Amino acid sequence: MRLDKFLSHTGFGSRKAVRLLIKKSLVKVNGEKVKDIGHILNLKSDIVTVGEEVVQYEEDVYIMINKPRDYICAHDAVEYPSVLDLLEESRSDLFFVGRLDADTEGLLIITNDGQFSHRIAHGKKDIKKQYYVELDHDFDKKFIGELEKGIPMDDTMLKPAKVEMVTSKALLLTISEGKYHQVKRMMHHCNNEVVYLKRVKIGPLNLDESLELGAYRSLTEEEISYFN
Ligand code: URA
Repeated sequence: MRLDKFLSHTGFGSRKAVRLLIKKSLVKVNGEKVKDIGHILNLKSDIVTVGEEVVQYEEDVYIMINKPRDYICAHDAVEYPSVLDLLEESRSDLFFVGRLDADTEGLLIITNDGQFSHRIAHGKKDIKKQYYVELDHDFDKKFIGELEKGIPMDDTMLKPAKVEMVTSKALLLTISEGKYHQVKRMMHHCNNEVVYLKRVKIGPLNLDESLELGAYRSLTEEEISYFN
């Protein structure tokens, strides 16, 4: 990575500000002053200092995890352990893109990229989430039309959902919002009870079914680009 890009990524300001630091001979690579703003760094081995400060480079993290039940999407886990405890390397800058309830399984994205998370959760694109839902008793198909038109919730109308029956007691439900307990509340509206819930898709991103519960992997460049 170029030295100027590295410094602006690590919080030393715009490229212009960073150039000034370099010009003022405040930047050293492996103890040597570097004047070339385009100096290429080896991120694995080079040590960069600005004045007396050693600059730590934290790469952007984009993880897909197959969340097991009885883990929570929070840093301070009280009743249950945090999903972050499942990661080999713990980092304080990570957060969840769209939380899942403790008893929900499936696709969860963990990142340290706030803009990426914002684009998924609140961006202009309508990014749909798909859930596999198992119910306590047979789903009453008379509610399909209502769900597909949009039902009321929290003083607003939900956007149209999509319902695909899997069995008489299981369905794939695709929704646009991420309201608290949304799927469970939608099924309550249909006089039913969720007994098992798993998120299987966010936008075009499918849960990698080769991931066992609790297992995770980095998103590929292509998967990250889905949300650009
Ligand atoms: N809807 C729910 O009710 N729970 C979840 O975890 C996700 C969506």
